[in-house]
Amino acid sequence: MRIGVIGAGWLGSTVGRLWVEAGHEVLFSSRTPSKLEELTAELGDNAIAGSFLDAAEFGEVALLSVRYPALPSLVMQVGDALAGRIVLDACNPFPPDRAEVIAAVEAAGVARTTQRHLPRARLVRAFSSVDADEIAVSAERRHGGRPLGVPLVSDDVEAMAVAEDLVRDCGCDPLNLGTMAHARIIENGEAGFRLHANVDGLRSILMRA
Ligand SMILES: NC(=O)c1ccc[n+]([C@@H]2O[C@H](COP(=O)([O-])OP(=O)(O)OC[C@H]3O[C@@H](n4cnc5c(N)ncnc54)[C@H](OP(=O)(O)O)[C@@H]3O)[C@@H](O)[C@H]2O)c1
Repeated sequence: MRIGVIGAGWLGSTVGRLWVEAGHEVLFSSRTPSKLEELTAELGDNAIAGSFLDAAEFGEVALLSVRYPALPSLVMQVGDALAGRIVLDACNPFPPDRAEVIAAVEAAGVARTTQRHLPRARLVRAFSSVDADEIAVSAERRHGGRPLGVPLVSDDVEAMAVAEDLVRDCGCDPLNLGTMAHARIIENGEAGFRLHANVDGLRSILMRA
């Protein structure tokens, strides 16, 4: 699969690296693509660097993993390109973002706010509630131990199925929580946010929440 990583910081480069290792072609992007050359050189021919627009146009799937306050201006650049594409959205407002931005987006609902920014994309909230380091640890122990459970929500059944496969390709286990109406439970301050457990552990905690 061809996947564009829009924002190859800590989260985007961690997940994108695992997808390259699983055999996908990944375009990593930045405002300064040259800073990604070391990463793409290390990962080989299936990894290239480019702009955010290059990543949005690259494949059928994009991972959105930029700082939350960047979204409004980013959407001006890539919103048209992402129309009709599957977008795995990991973005949260989080420190060091400004406290007022965090409070406003969290009050409105993070998933709901992102949906408003990208109404034509086939959105899946994915990787938004787990730490990049935990994903990397889960991938390292693929051949022993229980994988990390990664909760997903989406209104698009086909996009959800693609996201589930891509979570498995990172050495994690997907947990389909249903439609975007269930997005709150994996947002900051709720039971499912930064809940690092296998899928059985996630299920039992989230069912009690
Ligand atoms: N790290 C985690 O464990 C984790 C887990 C779950 C979700 N997330 C979410 O994933 C997103 C990225 O987090 P991160 O930890 O990877 O952050 P990071 O390492 O600081 O990377 C930030 C990314 O956002 C981009 N960015 C920053 N300011 C921008 C701007 N003004 N305009 C456009 N792009 C901008 C950066 O692009 P440049 O290369 O151009 O600077 C970079 O790709 C955040 O929304 C975060 O809440 C992170």
